[in-house]
Amino acid sequence: MDTQRPGCPIEYLNIQIKGSNEEKRSMPFKRSRYDKRTGFSPNNPRQQLNEATPFIDGSAIYGTSKTWTDCLREFKGGRLKADNPYKKIYEQFPTNNDMALPFVNYPTTKLHMLRPVSRYFKIGNRQGFENPFLLAISVIWFRWHNYIAHNISHSHPEWDDEKIFQAARRKVIAYQQKITMYDFLPRLLKIDENLNTYEIPKYTNEGGSRNVSIYNGYRSDINPAIAQEFQSAAMRFGHTIVPPGIWVRGPKRQSDCNWGFHNISLHDRKYKTRAIRLCNQYWNSQNKLKNMFDSVLRGMASSLASMEDTIMEPDLREFVYGPLEFSRRDLAAIDIQRGRDHGVSDYLTVRKTYCGHMDTLCDYKLKGNKDIVRVHLI
Ligand code: HEM
Repeated sequence: MDTQRPGCPIEYLNIQIKGSNEEKRSMPFKRSRYDKRTGFSPNNPRQQLNEATPFIDGSAIYGTSKTWTDCLREFKGGRLKADNPYKKIYEQFPTNNDMALPFVNYPTTKLHMLRPVSRYFKIGNRQGFENPFLLAISVIWFRWHNYIAHNISHSHPEWDDEKIFQAARRKVIAYQQKITMYDFLPRLLKIDENLNTYEIPKYTNEGGSRNVSIYNGYRSDINPAIAQEFQSAAMRFGHTIVPPGIWVRGPKRQSDCNWGFHNISLHDRKYKTRAIRLCNQYWNSQNKLKNMFDSVLRGMASSLASMEDTIMEPDLREFVYGPLEFSRRDLAAIDIQRGRDHGVSDYLTVRKTYCGHMDTLCDYKLKGNKDIVRVHLI
């Protein structure tokens, strides 16, 4: 999903800052774009626009339109275009954005100035350069596509570029769906691995052959669009699990896990570091990543996420995005205000609407669910 562009003309719903010296100041907040045919009366509430598809369809890997996808392609061997096609796939990065694809491009935190969007790679995710860890995921998907395309072109030498590309893309999207539905979601929701809750076919990996039975549960009468409650609240649970940074790790040594200092170069200067702090890296991602991709990946695989709770790290609460954007913004406040902008109701009403039978605040208290009570009271 992507609802992050402001409307035109821009409407502000700035957030008042309470506090002794700050009384007259407010945190800037732009209202979301919306369908201009809505928002005239309570019977026709404002409907914000999702500018990406609501499906798990790899649009963060390939872009949300054919034009965008074409800009990423090499048009040879079904591959996405790499910076250096003669390197091994596991050493490649996407090619540079020489055609100025319109990525989101805030001022970088350290230089305090806007820099050209052409300094970025060409990837599918418009927001993909926000931090190096998000960008690392895009690079992995890019390499995975090229690896699969390479395998397909070897097993089907008679296929042309288009056929290989589409076959590889279908496989990559299937991997993304599998990881989301069978690996990530059950662990997040702590449900059993049979996934009975979802009415989707069981995924087995028995005897090395992957096997998913045919899904008969598709219902064309269900609107697949992203719900406001999901966009403005539920899916933003992720903001509480973001850690303040990631450790970097060198290649494994016999004696230890190599958590030592690592050399990095940033803005033409050399540094030694053991970890990358999130708030220093916003919109600076590519530099950091190109110099130490494997160390960042090893670090990501070895660092813990923060707890899923009602607490956000200061990197998100006070420094979004770094020091340049006005007095810095607070993502917790923005999330709450976005809920108001999109007209999301309070927690208990939403639960009642979706589950049909939701308990009152007293029931929550009886069940001892302090967190939920706190959220409601805020
Ligand atoms: C470094 C980590 C992250 C940063 C800096 C960040 C920052 C932001 C910002 C600034 C927004 C726009 C807020 C607004 O104006 O309404 C946003 C939106 C959002 N974030 Fe995050 N976020 C991060 C991680 C995550 C994670 C881990 C998840 C979920 C797993 C997540 C889910 C969302 C969702 C669903 C939206 C709304 C997107 C849309 O409607 O286009 N974010 N985030």
